[in-house]
Amino acid sequence: MSVKANSAAMSFSVVLADEAATVSAGRKFGEALKQGAVVYLEGVLGAGKTTFCRGVLQAFGHSGAVKSPTYTLVEPYVLDIGTVYHFDLYRLGDPEELEYMGIRDYFQESAVCLVEWPVRGEGYLPCADIVATLSPLGDGRRLELQAINERGAAILILMS
Ligand SMILES: Nc1ncnc2c1ncn2[C@@H]1O[C@H](COP(=O)(O)OP(=O)(O)O)[C@@H](O)[C@H]1O
Ligand SMILES: [Mg+2]
Repeated sequence: MSVKANSAAMSFSVVLADEAATVSAGRKFGEALKQGAVVYLEGVLGAGKTTFCRGVLQAFGHSGAVKSPTYTLVEPYVLDIGTVYHFDLYRLGDPEELEYMGIRDYFQESAVCLVEWPVRGEGYLPCADIVATLSPLGDGRRLELQAINERGAAILILMS
């Protein structure tokens, strides 16, 4: 595990040996998101983005399954600890569709918005506070969390 911090950028990187490690990293990250955040999830299909989101949701008290909202685009989780919106924009045809679904209503200050395939919604999504990138590494995965702004940096500091 390594944390690099300087005034311009802050990032956090960790190797995840198996699925359980991805869930547990998500849970730890989720513990630091209680004030809300916009998180973009980057990585190829099968990289572990949804698995990581399951961990985040566990930190908010959700113990059930987490299905990819591939066709519905968003799955809301209204939990005692807070509200988490899980987006999967993989099948989004035109980013303008996000306007019709009232995308702005989801991005409340206090909510956690986890966005898989943010590139598909480019121009219609608020900026990320944190970009989480999952990449295949041997049989496991590598996770990098990058703070984009001060809010994101504060979250990474909470985690370290
Ligand atoms: N650290 C890991 N090492 C090995 N396999 C993992 C790891 N994390 C997740 N996986 C596996 O990767 C597969 C795809 O995960 P998923 O979260 O659906 O990916 P994505 O949402 O990025 O498409 C799942 O079978 C999951 O068990
Ligand atoms: Mg997914």
